[in-house]
Amino acid sequence: MNVKDLLNLDGKIILVTGGAGLYGKCIVEGLAEAGGTVITASRNLENGQKVAADFRSRGYDVYALKVDQADHDSVLTLKEEIKKHFGRLDVFVNNSVARPMKGYDAPIENFAESMRVNATGMMDIVREMGNLMGESGGGSIINISSMMGMYGPDLSNYEGTDMGTPSPDYFFHRAGIINLTRYLARVLADKKIRVNSVSPGGFFNHQPERFLENYCKKVPVGRMANNDDIKGVMVLLASDAGAYINGENILMDGGMHA
Ligand SMILES: NC(=O)c1ccc[n+]([C@@H]2O[C@H](COP(=O)([O-])OP(=O)(O)OC[C@H]3O[C@@H](n4cnc5c(N)ncnc54)[C@H](O)[C@@H]3O)[C@@H](O)[C@H]2O)c1
Repeated sequence: MNVKDLLNLDGKIILVTGGAGLYGKCIVEGLAEAGGTVITASRNLENGQKVAADFRSRGYDVYALKVDQADHDSVLTLKEEIKKHFGRLDVFVNNSVARPMKGYDAPIENFAESMRVNATGMMDIVREMGNLMGESGGGSIINISSMMGMYGPDLSNYEGTDMGTPSPDYFFHRAGIINLTRYLARVLADKKIRVNSVSPGGFFNHQPERFLENYCKKVPVGRMANNDDIKGVMVLLASDAGAYINGENILMDGGMHA
């Protein structure tokens, strides 16, 4: 098959959670540009609808639905809405993240709240969407983790800034989602579902100058991630071009950990 056909997402129904966020918007854009019908879902429907309308005005097939992944009924409602409006699900990008904990010394209740959304809720939505994909004949799940799920924090990046110590919950649940990826790749194989994860490095978001200096000098490509960086790997994993990539975690950090 021609590689352009292998990478083509025409006719694929794709769900991206947190599609109005930093990486989420780029993921939605890349998958829609490759021809997919993309549904973005998060708690704030109005925000999602704005993003979707903007994409549709540029000629892409993007829609918004609502979900709170920490609420089981909300996850089931999303599943029913996708079935009702789109009939099937071929690709699920498990991208949402909540950041309720700020720093090492924050109250332990913040850690528990993080687990409610980023561990329990994340598991709930990936299992329900996996079931829907199974009913649809199979597909591809892409879990978005982070380089912080693979390595400890490099505290020297924060020297000279007031950014504080990175929160422990993030390192815990980002690491968990990588091994859950391997688990799901085996357990969902009989439903013809491939499961992979992508572990990006930091996204440029106007961080303090000193942080950017500390960070970028450690990255062989010399910068933080931009709007285009994650698109290619998402299309690869979502499409038939990635048909033999399964149970893998792809680090996308500009070479920072080379
Ligand atoms: N931003 C970065 O530099 C960076 C670096 C590496 C990895 N990542 C990963 O990329 C992914 C997206 O991160 P981001 O920085 O773009 O996030 P963001 O904070 O910009 O967006 C997160 C999205 O998740 C949604 N969300 C939060 N709680 C939710 C809930 N209960 N139910 C449903 N949706 C919920 C929010 O509404 C938002 O749309 C995450 O998996 C994160 O770990 C981000």
